[in-house]
Amino acid sequence: MRSNVIAGQDVHRHWGGVVPELASRAHQEHIVPVVHEALNEAGVIGSDLSAVAFTQGPGLIGALLVGTCFARSYAQALGVPLIAVDHMKAHVLAHFIQDGSDRPVPAFPFLNLTVSGGHTLIVLIRGPLDMEVLGTTLDDAAGEAFDKGAKVLGLPYPGGPLIDLNAKGGDTKRYKLPAPGIKGYDMSFSGVKTAFNDLVKRGVSKEDAFVERELPHLCASLQQCIIDIVLRKVQKAGRTLNISSIAMSGGVSANSALREQLQSLGDREGWAVFIPPPVYCTDNGAMVAIAGHFLFQAGQFATMDTVPHPR
Ligand code: KG4
Ligand code: ZN
Repeated sequence: MRSNVIAGQDVHRHWGGVVPELASRAHQEHIVPVVHEALNEAGVIGSDLSAVAFTQGPGLIGALLVGTCFARSYAQALGVPLIAVDHMKAHVLAHFIQDGSDRPVPAFPFLNLTVSGGHTLIVLIRGPLDMEVLGTTLDDAAGEAFDKGAKVLGLPYPGGPLIDLNAKGGDTKRYKLPAPGIKGYDMSFSGVKTAFNDLVKRGVSKEDAFVERELPHLCASLQQCIIDIVLRKVQKAGRTLNISSIAMSGGVSANSALREQLQSLGDREGWAVFIPPPVYCTDNGAMVAIAGHFLFQAGQFATMDTVPHPR
């Protein structure tokens, strides 16, 4: 990895969530300066590139269209192959980003818990291009559960990192939230969301300063409930499939308590645990580049008329 430039979109904070139209406009504004900065930081120019990889989906159609159109034009102008990358596979392949540190990489096969703002997946990874989804959420994603919980507490978007911060020192058992009883490896977060919403509204109706007074405990209880849901399924999958390496990636895997608890679960179960540094957990260009690298090696290129896959 030579550079990994990320443009933050502060506009979402102002509106308390992602407004699709504003997200695509922000992409349009940022895409050319970000690519320039990445090339500058890497000390290369366009003609040094051997291919252009881009995120084809899943995601918001407007934002994906901006990236797809840009990548198509850029690859065509440079006369190099175009590589279409799946966002969720890129999150998994973030483990293989080589940035000069001596971080160990997971050996195949391994299980990956991929937790982001839009997805919650337990995936069996047999090779860089050979993945099988074993379990998924039946409703909201884990990141959504964090963000919606934070919104009820009046915290700005995205709320996940603020729940993480405010949960420190909080009592995880102060508020009991429901544990969904779903068979297999699938998960559900809508019950938790509703219960948390009701709990906060009830508290506030009795006392104006309820959230202020109870903030660390509310954050810690919500966070622990989400962690329990995902780790229970990871434990089950790891044991059933007799897997010795467990990995985690995606925005929510930046969560400090989840990182600690997956590590201790791995220690107890005798698994090797792999979690990338937080900067490669949340959305970043380096993960798309490393996914592009594996597809390049396999000769899997996209045609110039390729279109986004929002779902
Ligand atoms: O992978 P990502 O950056 O974007 C998507 O593909 O969705 O994930 C974003 C999600 C958001 O829901 C955000 O609140 C959550 O990751 N997130 C966190 C933390 N950092 C980011 N959730 C909990 N604790 C964190 N420290
Ligand atoms: Zn993501």
